[in-house]
Amino acid sequence: MSNEQLRESISFIQKKTSLRPTIAIVLGSGLGDFGESLSNKTVIDTSTIPNYPVSTVEGHKGKLIFGKLKNIPLLAFQGRIHFYESGNLGKVLYPIHVAHSLGIKTLIVTNAAGGINKNFTPGDLMLITDHINLTFLNPLSSIENNYELRITNYESTSSNLKSQISNDTFYNEQLCEFAERVALNAKIKLQKGVYCGLQGPTYETAAEIQMLKNFGADAVGMSTVNEVTLAVNYGMNVVGFSCITNLGTGISLTKLSHAEVTETGNRVKKQFAKLISLLIEEINRTKK
Ligand code: HPA
Repeated sequence: MSNEQLRESISFIQKKTSLRPTIAIVLGSGLGDFGESLSNKTVIDTSTIPNYPVSTVEGHKGKLIFGKLKNIPLLAFQGRIHFYESGNLGKVLYPIHVAHSLGIKTLIVTNAAGGINKNFTPGDLMLITDHINLTFLNPLSSIENNYELRITNYESTSSNLKSQISNDTFYNEQLCEFAERVALNAKIKLQKGVYCGLQGPTYETAAEIQMLKNFGADAVGMSTVNEVTLAVNYGMNVVGFSCITNLGTGISLTKLSHAEVTETGNRVKKQFAKLISLLIEEINRTKK
């Protein structure tokens, strides 16, 4: 994949919609419906976009949804691609390159995660305060991915990289404050913690969960960390949330299943959507 191919994707997308949002959201498992609730929607099936990678996971149909939330233009990425599907980080990161090229300045990332912190219960929402990247991959590594680096170089500046390195966390402090404030006002319980990203696709063993706990992780999942690393390098302001769909192996007494993950996601998706909506309104208010 090349810059030329990215340009082809962008010009296809921009012909489909006149909306030019500056806020985008990556919808993790469980929050997919959020995009459907937007008004004035343009839904683009990612399989129709030239050069856009397709997900191989059944039921993970990828869509780009352009629409408005209370008159605020928004881009929602529905159905993310996980690294374990192809072993190709370029596919995982493609949506971030697209977001950047479309002029997105604020990125909201969401995911489903297993709880490690003993104060968490399934169904809790967690504001991601920082992350641990245990995928052993990095979007900025030239060894891993020449393609990303080439694209990164054509727009981003080395000063971006410097400021990102000197930052304590990739997650924007002001956006985190907004999230905490709107949650408090709306009486939505919002936990805070460190998200650890692994490659998957298997859930962790009990010993791995203990290790992650010792490392300082509060939640674990199989996405997000590389996408956020690239987005921050592009200069985007990032805020992230995990839906704690289950407790990590060994913390919970019951055996972890995919059904539990989906079930919990469904149970809290309304609250999750409300939190995201309120946050977007708050972000929009401060832009004015
Ligand atoms: N581990 C990893 N990824 C997950 C989990 C988990 O327990 N739950 C949802 N995604």
